[in-house]
Amino acid sequence: MPQEWSPDSWRAKPAAQLPAYPSPAALEAVLDDMRRFPPLVFAGEALAMREKLAKVATGKAFLLQGGDCAESFAEFHPNNIRDTFRVLMQMAVILTYGASIPIVKVGRVAGQFAKPRSAATEKQGAAELPSYFGDNINGIEFTPEARQPDPNRLLQAYSQSAATLNLLRAFAQGGYADLHAVHRWNLGFAENSSAGKRYRETADRIAEALDFMEACGITGDAVPEVRQTDFYTSHEALHLPFEAIMTRRDTITGNGGWFDCSAHFVWIGDRTRQLDGAHVEFARGIENPIGIKAGPSLAPDELVRLAAMLNPNNLPGKLTVIGRFGADKVFEKLPGLIRAVQREGQSVVWSCDPMHGNTIKVGNGYKTRPFDRVMAEVRGFFAVHRGEGTHAGGIHVEMTGQDVTECLGGGQRIEEVHLSERYNTHCDPRLNASQSLELAFLISEMLKLERLSAQPARPANAAE
Ligand code: PEP
Ligand code: CO
Repeated sequence: MPQEWSPDSWRAKPAAQLPAYPSPAALEAVLDDMRRFPPLVFAGEALAMREKLAKVATGKAFLLQGGDCAESFAEFHPNNIRDTFRVLMQMAVILTYGASIPIVKVGRVAGQFAKPRSAATEKQGAAELPSYFGDNINGIEFTPEARQPDPNRLLQAYSQSAATLNLLRAFAQGGYADLHAVHRWNLGFAENSSAGKRYRETADRIAEALDFMEACGITGDAVPEVRQTDFYTSHEALHLPFEAIMTRRDTITGNGGWFDCSAHFVWIGDRTRQLDGAHVEFARGIENPIGIKAGPSLAPDELVRLAAMLNPNNLPGKLTVIGRFGADKVFEKLPGLIRAVQREGQSVVWSCDPMHGNTIKVGNGYKTRPFDRVMAEVRGFFAVHRGEGTHAGGIHVEMTGQDVTECLGGGQRIEEVHLSERYNTHCDPRLNASQSLELAFLISEMLKLERLSAQPARPANAAE
């Protein structure tokens, strides 16, 4: 490592987007308490996830990452956690069945609170207040009291994350993720949408395959993957004082390194990826698999330097580059990044966030995303990778299992006038369950296409 690293070495670097607490002493007091809190995840799990991502890096698996833009205290409810998990499971099944490829399942969940903002303050009429930075920092209501950063919110966010993770572990390992439940996951408002119907056909075929396998003696007793799954958590490592106190030295696995035990996977946002900045400094010292968002302003040589800094030993699965260019820019920006990284022989997972580059504000003031632009960026991502001969490794989406009306279009044909009906997000607009399933079907087709185009051409004299 070029320079000494510690969980606090980022403090010597310029840090973008950190909240200004009115009382730094009060923040330190809360953090001191939290140093004794148990880690939310264990080093061995983060290492296991890194191994799975290594398979993605080498083209043998696919990463599915999704969840809220921002979790909130108001939307905290077991049904919401269940529904997000359920839709991610449905998407994973569509991908596994359609594309015959293992899926690494990851939620933007159990800690996805802190938000970077484009402006430090928000104006409403003549009033100007600090922007909303996420429920673990301040409140969304436009009042001076709510917008004041309050360190006690970190305690509530920790407790919500621990409870959420506990339920997710129960779902993943305790029977809800059993493949025999494929039909049950489809219950809910999306069931009667065209994507829901298409899902039911897939589920029918999976149920038949399971019956066949059972007749052959391949059961959940013999093959645990039939009954349970691995599900990982992730969030943006924005709030460095919190991430630092959750960073613990591994005393169990033999790795012995430092792990950010607030989640299995953390990423650096597009606004905080400065080479000499605090967020990159923090992330370079942890052993977790990490991500970096890549927006249109990221130059190829900058990405190469970031990858060298964040993954100096070039471990496959360690670094995921999450492109978020927008449907119109993906063809222009992504090939240069891929070529530069390939030229250097750097191993990365290439993932696509088709949300953040496709945000628009419509006439009635709502921030939204046209579903056809989301789909177009995903198609572009796959087309670029086919052209470069590299693996389109993953998808990163903002979605929810709820019947929200936040993104335009899709099978339900959500229009501008519908946005106000169920616009519940605390930050960016999310795909609802049926839009998420539609997207999964598209990706499954794209993955099949990738596999076909990667097959060696048949020799000219091959027998018909
Ligand atoms: C996000 O993922 O919610 C986000 C803020 O993304 P980005 O850093 O890519 O803008
Ligand atoms: Co967002």
